[in-house]
Amino acid sequence: MDKEAEIEELNNRFHSESPESILRFFLDKYKGRIALSSSLSIEDQVITDMIAKIDKDTRIFTLDTGRLFPETYQLIDKTDSIYNIHIEVFFPNYEEVQRMVREEGINLFYKSTELRHRCCQIRKLEPLKRAFKGVDAWICGLRKEQSITRKDMRKIEWDDIHDRLKINPLIDWSEEQVWNYIKENSVPYNKLYKEGYPSIGCEPCTRPIKEGEDIRNGRWWWENPEQRECGLHKR
Ligand code: ADX
Ligand code: SF4
Repeated sequence: MDKEAEIEELNNRFHSESPESILRFFLDKYKGRIALSSSLSIEDQVITDMIAKIDKDTRIFTLDTGRLFPETYQLIDKTDSIYNIHIEVFFPNYEEVQRMVREEGINLFYKSTELRHRCCQIRKLEPLKRAFKGVDAWICGLRKEQSITRKDMRKIEWDDIHDRLKINPLIDWSEEQVWNYIKENSVPYNKLYKEGYPSIGCEPCTRPIKEGEDIRNGRWWWENPEQRECGLHKR
């Protein structure tokens, strides 16, 4: 069976399955070769909670860009201790960061979309490549509702750019479903959500939004909505 047909079949099979049963299936099938990439978002925290209940040995990693909020670092620590797990932290190559900052300044991302992409490339995408070593299946906390760039995403995809299977167990969940799970299971979450931040990434590229405003306005707000992706989820 070719890759496309296989993905189609998996999506049909898991169409009405819960995120837990999707995770149970893939954590078992890809044991030792599967990882969650977590930004410590509410979605990733829900998945972390599910994973910790299914198989604590599953790899969970985060990309520390060097520009995260202090609240995110506190949450990494808290999540490790609550679940008795070890979130792996990947850092950018310091020489590349130094060169970029020397050439373009510490806050280059506000100067142009091109420079913003360069920063994301160095601080997120290059470390992601290293984090992917030995990983055949990649779990993410993406939801369709998060952005117009995500409305066509599926539960199970083949990621052509990163050349591996991508699993989005919460793709069809609403924000309300995420919060309900967080409350019912006492999942730890980033305090910034309560201060009006609906989506949390790097500190200089994230801001709170007003009620009713589009979630994605809280990220790279100076760019067009179609461009507000860091490249991790390019298709
Ligand atoms: S982003 O592309 O705009 O930064 P977003 O913050 O919505 O992405 O997160 C979507 C998913 O991308 C997360 O659920 C997580 O799987 C992955 N992700 C984003 N940022 C990171 C990070 N710093 N470390 C690890 N995974 C991340
Ligand atoms: Fe750099 Fe902003 Fe991208 Fe973070 S989100 S890597 S600070 S451009």
